[in-house]
Amino acid sequence: MTINQIRQLLYGMFILVLFIIFLYCILINNWLVMNKTYSEQLWYKKHEAVISLDDIEQNPPTLESPDINVTPIPVINWNKMAKSRLPWYFQDGTKVPNNIEPKHKTGPRTSRIWPEEQNNTDRIEEQLMFVPHNYQYENSPMKKILINNSFNGCMINEGQTEFISNDCPVDRCFITKNILEAENMDAIIFNGKYSKPSHNKTSKQVWILLITEPAYKSTLNVDQDVINWTAAYRHDSDIYIPYGRWAYYNPSVTQIEQLDRNYASAKKKKVAIIVSNCSDANKDRVEYVGELKNYITVDVYGECGEFNKTVTLDEFLKILDRDYKFYLAFENANCVDYITDTFFVNGLQYNTLPVVMGGRPEDYQRIAPERSYVHVDDFESPARLAEYLHRLDADDDLYNEYFRWKGTGEFIDTKFYCRLCAMLHDVDAPTKHYRNVDDWWRGPGVCGDRKTEWRRAEGLSAGGRVANDDHE
Ligand SMILES: *[C@@H]1O[C@H](CO)[C@@H](O)[C@H](O)[C@H]1NC(C)=O
Ligand SMILES: *[C@@H]1O[C@H](CO)[C@@H](O)[C@H](O)[C@H]1NC(C)=O
Ligand SMILES: *[C@@H]1O[C@H](CO)[C@@H](O)[C@H](O)[C@H]1NC(C)=O
Ligand SMILES: *[C@@H]1O[C@H](CO)[C@@H](O)[C@H](O)[C@H]1NC(C)=O
Ligand SMILES: *[C@@H]1O[C@H](CO)[C@@H](O)[C@H](O)[C@H]1NC(C)=O
Ligand SMILES: *[C@@H]1O[C@H](CO)[C@@H](O)[C@H](O)[C@H]1NC(C)=O
Repeated sequence: MTINQIRQLLYGMFILVLFIIFLYCILINNWLVMNKTYSEQLWYKKHEAVISLDDIEQNPPTLESPDINVTPIPVINWNKMAKSRLPWYFQDGTKVPNNIEPKHKTGPRTSRIWPEEQNNTDRIEEQLMFVPHNYQYENSPMKKILINNSFNGCMINEGQTEFISNDCPVDRCFITKNILEAENMDAIIFNGKYSKPSHNKTSKQVWILLITEPAYKSTLNVDQDVINWTAAYRHDSDIYIPYGRWAYYNPSVTQIEQLDRNYASAKKKKVAIIVSNCSDANKDRVEYVGELKNYITVDVYGECGEFNKTVTLDEFLKILDRDYKFYLAFENANCVDYITDTFFVNGLQYNTLPVVMGGRPEDYQRIAPERSYVHVDDFESPARLAEYLHRLDADDDLYNEYFRWKGTGEFIDTKFYCRLCAMLHDVDAPTKHYRNVDDWWRGPGVCGDRKTEWRRAEGLSAGGRVANDDHE
């Protein structure tokens, strides 16, 4: 071969390689686009959106674009603009998930939705954005779910309704309440109460215990080694159902300046609480309020207060919003993650600073907006807390710092049924069951009075959670 021939050969090969790279890029690009748009096409079809997909991809919505000219507004609504590409579970969210990448041989996968994959967070947002890698939308088989309910079951629709009406990205699930079909189900949900079905459980069938009662109530009375997943207000349940859940529009922006707004102005009074049940289950709470009163004025409303016994909750909340700087959002039990509407509704929906007792400080941190409350456990004693409240009362700037979270996100609908359906379709779900659910639910370190060690316990035990490797 001459030098020239070699040169020509090399040149030819070079061109060929370029061509192959070129083809490859086109293919990958097409594949990405197809992948990206499929779930979005479904979404927009469902919403009969006026805008076409191309509009969104190429021209992010502006004030002139047809989708937001609802009413002419004089100032640019930056909030609305920023929200235009929020995940679908936000009020104005439109960003729908695509299938996740298949699991690699080593290392964790991109989406970690199980307590076994990630146990220090509640995994809610990951679960809401989870679409299994092999999920084929309308072409996927239905997962059949039986709800064996003891109460409020009549509010759940049978069929696919719950999944469609909630706009679930993964909606190929079907609910039935007919106990006769128990044997053929992919999942059985025991709603609040367990009663042993008459068929023999197969290892593929997932049994789920849904618990809505607070932890300190009676034992669960569940057979050993039958429950695969739990759904409750505990962040370490497989499908966490909190009373409320804050989510940021942009996780790196957790505080914004509240321009020209002084939340302290016009508030003449300090601390209020409403106690309607005289036989209070939480002795801690009663004791604490009693002690606190020695150091700061606390107006106790309700049946068991001395301030105004006849006031209704609605009336109380109006008074609170108008007159008081602090609200004692004390729960009726001190249990891990036990944070109810007392905090989310009575506390955060009004312009009063909640002082909280119930879950541990880290439990509040996980689901509440940053700097939106004061936790009693951050103070050595009621006297120290009172001292701090007096300081906040005297310093409007400091007080207002507790309202900077407003406008940085919203309380999201955590869409239990959507997450349930997505997780049932997860082919990589860990096989697992609870040896004794009560150990997990009511075991040591779950509830306690504030002076005991429970709050300082390092994390929760997995409660006899068992990983099975018995794939048949
Ligand atoms: C729940 O399951 C038990 C046991 O199989 C059955 O007796 C009961 O009727 C079921 N309840 C409902 C509402 O399906
Ligand atoms: C369930 O399994 C047990 C033992 O394996 C067997 O004796 C029983 O007949 C089975 N029951 C049903 C309803 O299949
Ligand atoms: C008041 O609390 C007691 C003890 O926890 C409870 O048994 C009772 O049902 C409660 N009453 C009301 C009206 O909530
Ligand atoms: C208690 O509050 C209600 C509602 O605000 C009011 O109508 C009533 O007069 C109050 N009672 C007393 C004793 O202050
Ligand atoms: C569910 O629990 C049973 C034990 O009751 C176990 O054999 C089975 O593997 C578990 N299945 C899944 C999908 O986790
Ligand atoms: C939580 O995860 C960490 C790291 O993956 C692990 O070491 C720890 O045992 C887990 N804790 C529980 C309670 O599962």
